[in-house]
Amino acid sequence: MADNKTFAAALNDQIANEFGASMQYIGAAVHYDAETLPRLANFFYRQAVEERSHAMMMIQYLLDVDEDVRIPDISGVETKFSDDVSPVRMALEQEKRVGEEIYSLFELARETRDYRAEQFMQWFVKEQVEEVSLMIDLLNVVERSQDNLLLVEDFIARESLGEGSDGDAPPEAGSG
Ligand SMILES: [Fe+2]
Ligand SMILES: [Fe+2]
Repeated sequence: MADNKTFAAALNDQIANEFGASMQYIGAAVHYDAETLPRLANFFYRQAVEERSHAMMMIQYLLDVDEDVRIPDISGVETKFSDDVSPVRMALEQEKRVGEEIYSLFELARETRDYRAEQFMQWFVKEQVEEVSLMIDLLNVVERSQDNLLLVEDFIARESLGEGSDGDAPPEAGSG
């Protein structure tokens, strides 16, 4: 099972990335919360919970396949923003970066013929396409309305942006 170990080590690293993403989103949420933009704040608080869920799915997977779980140190995060557009820019960059990380994990699973891992990663591939697309939409709206962010607030409410759950999502540690 040496190949398997390699994937498990990489997945442990990704757990740190997901928790890091969660912290970044709390930073973005706090920025908007302080400006009394509650829909934008809630949007990012929800994203933060989602990223935590991704980490917990990965933890559950490692438990399921009987691999060690390292609960990682989370390194410093950027949570100060100079204006109201940059949190969303950060979010789009972050989702693109996580996408690359997810595709590398998928590749590693495939290269090492770890079929369980490959199947596990499939949901995350689909999820990243959705998350990047979501952040592109939000960035478009925020850039267009940066002089009146109440329009963004309306947009998020009207479109239920970032809401709704996915029945195919892998199980999370601690949820059953
Ligand atoms: Fe994620
Ligand atoms: Fe994400």
